[in-house]
Amino acid sequence: MAAELQAIFVGVGGRGRNHLDAWIDHPRLGVAGLVDINPQYLEDARKAAALPPTGCFSTLADALATLNADVVVVVTHAQTHARFIRAALQAGKHVVVEKPMTCDLAEAEELVRLADRAGRKLMVTQQIRYLPVERTIRRLLAEEAYGRPGFGHYVNYKVRGLAYPQSDHMQLWQMSIHELDALLAMIDRPVARVQAREFQPSWGNWPSESTIAAILEFAGGPTISYVSSSDSRGWGLEFRLECERGALIQRAKRVGGEGTLALATRDGEQAIHLDSGVDNKRATRAMADLFASYVLDGIEPEVSGARNLVTLRLCDAVIRSAQTGRVVDLGDG
Ligand SMILES: NC(=O)c1ccc[n+]([C@@H]2O[C@H](COP(=O)([O-])OP(=O)(O)OC[C@H]3O[C@@H](n4cnc5c(N)ncnc54)[C@H](O)[C@@H]3O)[C@@H](O)[C@H]2O)c1
Repeated sequence: MAAELQAIFVGVGGRGRNHLDAWIDHPRLGVAGLVDINPQYLEDARKAAALPPTGCFSTLADALATLNADVVVVVTHAQTHARFIRAALQAGKHVVVEKPMTCDLAEAEELVRLADRAGRKLMVTQQIRYLPVERTIRRLLAEEAYGRPGFGHYVNYKVRGLAYPQSDHMQLWQMSIHELDALLAMIDRPVARVQAREFQPSWGNWPSESTIAAILEFAGGPTISYVSSSDSRGWGLEFRLECERGALIQRAKRVGGEGTLALATRDGEQAIHLDSGVDNKRATRAMADLFASYVLDGIEPEVSGARNLVTLRLCDAVIRSAQTGRVVDLGDG
């Protein structure tokens, strides 16, 4: 069966290759062409997608001018996302972009408006919120299975070993955006107020802050104490949410890694069976499925550009709080 949507992929060397592979195997999605500044990445991806050399380009502008395509998939450095999204929308294409949509809230808002005016779909591949532990916590909280949530902590210690590609607020735009998006999905309420600090540990020498601490006050509760660093010395993720009748505890080595969920009460701890969901390996396929049904069936996913603005507004509030030393009120109750 012929693919219903054909895409140009921009950035096929790193994470982009995962998305490309998901599209190659997809019954409704196809690959029209590839763009990368690295000829070896282009050649490897070209072979995988079984495209002729005429399907490969070093600029998106050339690919847009040459190929018939419906979609542009952007998986380059975060700092370059905005200009590729804008060019794609202006050429009348739908867009899939890796996180972060952009590193600037106002720019993201402008791009969402542009997509809306152009009648095109924009989606951000923030897959963590769809993983089984996150999905199970979201359901248990929606059902108030253990009563109302009150307070808790979310800590993630990542041993990346080297800095992310050059950007300001690198921990925020590369890592915390996943965690904040997952928290927003699990608790499923907006954050009303945030107080944050961005900093380097005593040994830190990254070009921008590797570590964030924050107090996140969700509208109507809970309040979450948040710490995350990619310049840690040992791995570990724990999210603990104290509810009226017990505490939910997520544990994993890393964000996106296989995790466990437990319920702690005064009688001890018991494991909670997880809802079925996508694992991290299949998450890029799940993102492709969501995008296909967004464009072809009109079902807007939680990660549409417009809905992703909630996460970007929280990221922006973290920056403003860290820069001013003040509590930032997001105006959500
Ligand atoms: N969702 C996730 O779990 C996840 C995981 C890893 C990375 N990411 C995101 O994916 C994006 C890419 O990250 P990465 O680790 O693959 O980066 P990378 O640097 O490994 O790969 C980027 C690719 O883009 C190409 N490229 C760079 N500039 C280009 C340009 N001007 N035109 C065309 N191609 C260009 C590079 O040659 C490379 O192939 C980032 O936004 C990152 O945050 C998301």
